[in-house]
Order: sequence, then C-alpha cells, then structure tokens
Amino acid sequence: MNTNQVQIFDTTLRDGEQVPGCKLDTQQKIVIARQLERLGVDVIEAGFPVSSPGDFKSVAEIGRTVKDVIVCGLTRAVMNDIDVAAEALQTARRPRIHTGIGVSDSHIQYKLRTTPDKIIERAVAAVKHAKSYVEDVEFYAEDAGRADNEFLARVVQAVVDAGATVLNIPDTTGYCLPQEYGDKIAYLRDNVNGIHKCILSTHCHNDLGLATANSIAGAQNGARQIECTINGIGERAGNTSLEEVVMIMRQHPHLGLTTNINSKLLLETSHLVSESMGMMVQPNKAIVGDNAFAHSSGIHQDGVIKRRDTYEIIDPAEVGVDQSKIVLTARSGRAALAYRFKNLGFNLTKVQLDNVYQEFLHIADQKKEVEDADLRDMMEGMAA
Ligand code: KIV
Ligand code: ZN
Repeated sequence: MNTNQVQIFDTTLRDGEQVPGCKLDTQQKIVIARQLERLGVDVIEAGFPVSSPGDFKSVAEIGRTVKDVIVCGLTRAVMNDIDVAAEALQTARRPRIHTGIGVSDSHIQYKLRTTPDKIIERAVAAVKHAKSYVEDVEFYAEDAGRADNEFLARVVQAVVDAGATVLNIPDTTGYCLPQEYGDKIAYLRDNVNGIHKCILSTHCHNDLGLATANSIAGAQNGARQIECTINGIGERAGNTSLEEVVMIMRQHPHLGLTTNINSKLLLETSHLVSESMGMMVQPNKAIVGDNAFAHSSGIHQDGVIKRRDTYEIIDPAEVGVDQSKIVLTARSGRAALAYRFKNLGFNLTKVQLDNVYQEFLHIADQKKEVEDADLRDMMEGMAA
C-alpha cells in the first residue's frame, strides 16, 4: 500500500444500519455491498454477527459475494461474539474481526462497572482470541475521544503486543475538536511501540457536526484508515460521511492523501442507500444533496453561467452529477432567465428579455420555483 493512501472502511451496513428505520434485509445488503465494491471501498463492515440470525446471515452472504474487499464483522470483547463472527466470516476471502471495549472513565465506571486494568485484560484476551481465527484483527477503543490519552496509549500498546493489525480510535460521542482528535492520533503514533506496523483508524461521530473535520485531522496526523458511511448515516447525529472525506482529499491534493474511491459513483451510491433505507438525504448535504450543485441567487447564477468554478469547487461530473442546476426563483436575475430560455431553445433579444423579466418576477413571487412549463407559457403569451 502506498503510504499516503487512506483506506476507506465503510460501515453503512453496520453503524449506518443501526439507525432507527434503516433496517435492511440480506438481499438489500448484498446489493449495497456490491455497489460499495464497485465504488472502491477497501473494507466493508457487514454487520454484528452475534446480534441476530439475520445479521449473521448477511455477513456470511456478503463474504460469499464480494471478491477483493475485506469483509469485517463487529464484536464486543466477548468470546462468544468472536466465535460467532469467525463462523459468519468463514465465507469471506479476506475476513477481519473488529473487536473492542470502552476505554473512557465514563464507560469503564458506569457502563462496564470495572477497573482500567480489567479493561486491558479483556482487550488483550479478545484480540488474542480473534487472532486464533483470523490474521486481520481490528481493535476499537470505544469512546477514545473522551479517554485519557495516557491510558488509551496503554490499552493500544497492549493490543498491539497481542497482535492487533488495525487500531480504531473512535470518537464515539462526537465530542472532540479537530485539533484535539488529531493530537490524540499523533500522541498514539509517538508513544506506542510498534504502532508503525499497524494501521491507525478514525471512527468519528457527528454529534457536534465535526465528524468529517475530525476524520481529516486524524488522517493528517497519521491515521491511514477512515471509517465512514454513505450519506453520513449512523448512530444519533450520524457517522463520518464517506463522500465528504473522499472529496476533501481529492480537492486538497497538498494533503498528499489518496483513496481508491471512484468518485463518479458517489451520487449513484448515495441514491441506492437512501432509497433502500427509506432515509432521505437533506437537500443541502455536501456532495450528494439535491442542492449541492444548484444555484438560485442572481449574483451566483451570473457567475456560474460565465464560468462554473466561480461558485463551484467541484466539477459535478466528478461525483456523478449530470450538471449544475440554475434554479429560477424571485432572487434570480436576467442572466439566469436568459440561460434557462436558451436551454429550451429560445434565444431572446435584450428587449425581449427585459419585457419577459417583469412577468417572470411576478410569477416567481407567487411560486417557490419557476419551472420550464412556466417559461413555455410565457413564450406562448408573448407570441399571442
Ligand atoms: O462509535 C463507536 O465507537 C463504534 C464502535 C463499535 C466501533 O461504532
Ligand atoms: Zn460508531
């Protein structure tokens, strides 16, 4: 692997599917897994096999279906979870077990009701047990975002020594600031022996809207795997959005970070996930929202019509969007109106445009958006 390549670990089918109302059946999951493989993700987290027979079956079927991608099953640091995940992953050509335990004071005291030393014992035992089944074992230090860095480094050191190959440092509660999260990754990189043999991974939730920024800060500080989901779905306010982190790395080549993702498939993949899960994408969602390439104010429209990159930093074709949209509203100017008429085959003179513009404003004040049909009616009115 190129040292600047960031592995994309997609957890749409696990963290994403945990969202209320997003449940999928095995067949739907297989369709999405195939699409994720076409998209170029490196790892598919296919489910949590011990959680239900349906999830077990989905992980096994996805393992049978995909070819080159690593298929990962989630477990707690519980022996039976690991046994069941290993069984579900028998079909996979490249299986990975993802095991872990809470490491913040809050998780240790109130959720797990144990001691820091016992956490380390359980983490090591889980990694060793997973290692008895598969070579590729990822360890997650749950709630690492709120954990003390020194203790976190002790846990990570112990699981590195036990054979973990990937170290996931989740900001489970979406608490960290980008600088803080980046520093956490750097601290581990600098204070854990042998960590350079492993891949450090980000897994950032979006409770404060910082999931994407934190993931990028992690990658800037040495993480070489980003865990994310299509459309940013995931527990509560969601997970890191795959399309956002991928396009940030592409739009900022000076970061020196690359991925295997075929960005032209981003919109299609977003639609597939949204339709399968019945989870609409907010129109203003970056990259894949309906308005991501729509321009409605006169000032912006005038610029984009003259030259697209005055108001667009991404060529829509690069993410699979046909073209930018010039939306006609009461805020639109003459340039946008002339442009839309031209697209319908009407080349208006300046005088014609001036005449029709007043009528357009009148219609636009009554409606949210002026459609092609309204423009055609206006032309018929002019001809009559
Ligand atoms: O958010 C989280 O900490 C998780 C782990 C199970 C990886 O989803
Ligand atoms: Zn998560």
